[in-house]
Amino acid sequence: MSYNYKLKILPFIVIFLLIVECLLVYPTSIVRADSLSTPYEQRIIHSPDGIGKYYMGREIAKVMGYIGAGWLERPSREGEEQPSKIVSLLNLKPNDVVADIGAGTGYLSFRIAPLLTAGKVLAVDVQPEMLEIIELFKKEKNITNVEPILATLSDPNLPSESIDLALMVDAYHELEYPQEVMQGIVKALKPSGRVVLVEYRGENPFIMIKGLHKMTQKQVRKEMQAVGLVWRETKNLLPQQHLMVFEKHDSSDFS
Ligand SMILES: C[S@@+](CC[C@H](N)C(=O)[O-])C[C@H]1O[C@@H](n2cnc3c(N)ncnc32)[C@H](O)[C@@H]1O
Repeated sequence: MSYNYKLKILPFIVIFLLIVECLLVYPTSIVRADSLSTPYEQRIIHSPDGIGKYYMGREIAKVMGYIGAGWLERPSREGEEQPSKIVSLLNLKPNDVVADIGAGTGYLSFRIAPLLTAGKVLAVDVQPEMLEIIELFKKEKNITNVEPILATLSDPNLPSESIDLALMVDAYHELEYPQEVMQGIVKALKPSGRVVLVEYRGENPFIMIKGLHKMTQKQVRKEMQAVGLVWRETKNLLPQQHLMVFEKHDSSDFS
């Protein structure tokens, strides 16, 4: 390679190295916004467990596909997560209407439904295959007050002011459009309605689950506040998750 040739290509090499440095050191600087008005940003360099889309500083996790349905129904789940305790911590009333958002196989829905002797569970999911599994369990368990609802990625498809409680267990972190879904949920809540989020504790590095499948309380509160929800309490009684309770209105507004 002649000296002249090397001199000619040098500027290109320098520019190439600058771009690489930019990508590695400042990944947030290479951002493709969906549109100027969205709260999301798309980053090129991101976790293999995420979709590269960020919301309020958090990368959104990949959706757990229906192929993983067996994992949701694993017999060891009661010992690991104590879902029966989740149900008892909800303080349900017999006539409550509960939306189980991201219901999956309906693991929680079918444990809640028997308590709602005059109410029902709306089991909401985006995967039709999950809803088929719910239909199958409905017949097998002979439970009639679980209604499967097919959501879109950005709309839970719930009627206005129709639900007393929206429950999300291990689901919120994988919503592709968290702000739009939460706005839909807030609209669907009755005036005294509650939102309960159960997520693996992001503050604890010893909880052996992928980082994007955990959330810190600080992050959850920030994201709920963005849609007008008011934090009420966090129940730290589960082995690995925190259970956070939010309300539609700040009751101090009425005092
Ligand atoms: C990890 S699973 C948890 C299932 C269930 N909550 C449980 O604990 O057994 C998360 C579920 O959320 C669903 N999901 C993802 N995005 C959703 C959305 N925008 N609306 C409703 N469900 C969604 C997925 O299809 C998946 O079934």
